[in-house]
Amino acid sequence: MLELEGVVKHYSGPGGEVVRAVDGISLSIRAGEIVALHGPSGSGKSTLLMLAAALMKPDAGRMRFEGVDLTLMSANVTADYQREQIGFIYQSFHLMAEVPAVENAAIKLLANRVPLKQARRAAVPWLERVGLGKRLDHTPDRLSGGERQRVAIARALISEPRLILADEPTGSLDTRRGGEILALLADICDQQKAAMLLVTHDSQATAIADRVYAMRDGKLALGEMDSGPPEPLRQRVPG
Ligand SMILES: Nc1ncnc2c1ncn2[C@@H]1O[C@H](COP(=O)(O)OP(=O)(O)OP(=O)(O)O)[C@@H](O)[C@H]1O
Ligand SMILES: [Mg+2]
Repeated sequence: MLELEGVVKHYSGPGGEVVRAVDGISLSIRAGEIVALHGPSGSGKSTLLMLAAALMKPDAGRMRFEGVDLTLMSANVTADYQREQIGFIYQSFHLMAEVPAVENAAIKLLANRVPLKQARRAAVPWLERVGLGKRLDHTPDRLSGGERQRVAIARALISEPRLILADEPTGSLDTRRGGEILALLADICDQQKAAMLLVTHDSQATAIADRVYAMRDGKLALGEMDSGPPEPLRQRVPG
């Protein structure tokens, strides 16, 4: 479905130095497949997802979706690709302030001129699936961090995307809720034959991923995540 070949993305740093955020990555992902990526902060994970969503162009390399070169698409075709094929779960959620959860989740439908009532009705089951059936009319400022994250997940899934690009989708959730969300994402990939590129530090993701890569300095290597409980930050003295 998605094929990357030797993809490079540079940024220029504040002092004019070149940051090789993505440094020659080749990767392909088939329908129904889940690929998990982990790696230290700044290793290029979010940049790779943004490239895959055609939100930015690579400086070198080729990127194809269903055989079509993402770098050669016109602005209109790029917008169609993003709206129809991609479900992007942003690391920082990007919800609209002062808009109720149900309308945030329905935003792609509203952008497609689906009438408000109908769009809200379509979004309700998605919010229920992420455990927010009782928070439909809460605006983001009245939701917890984990609840906002789940609205962002519902919003990405509502269009039944072919390719889910998920940037730390369980980063604000506890282990139990994170496990449920990962299971939901895995179900969707299964049922809808969607592919998913999943950036995560959550070792539970290993259970749903077909492949796990470690990213470091813009490069990928096959590599498992550390599993087991995290190291305690400090010893507690029993007393
Ligand atoms: N717009 C930008 N301009 C300049 N440098 C950038 C820009 N965005 C990211 N970078 C740099 O590119 C590198 C990769 O950033 P990226 O956000 O892809 O990392 P990440 O792996 O997602 O990190 P994190 O785990 O903290 O989210 C970092 O060194 C970052 O400082
Ligand atoms: Mg990131």
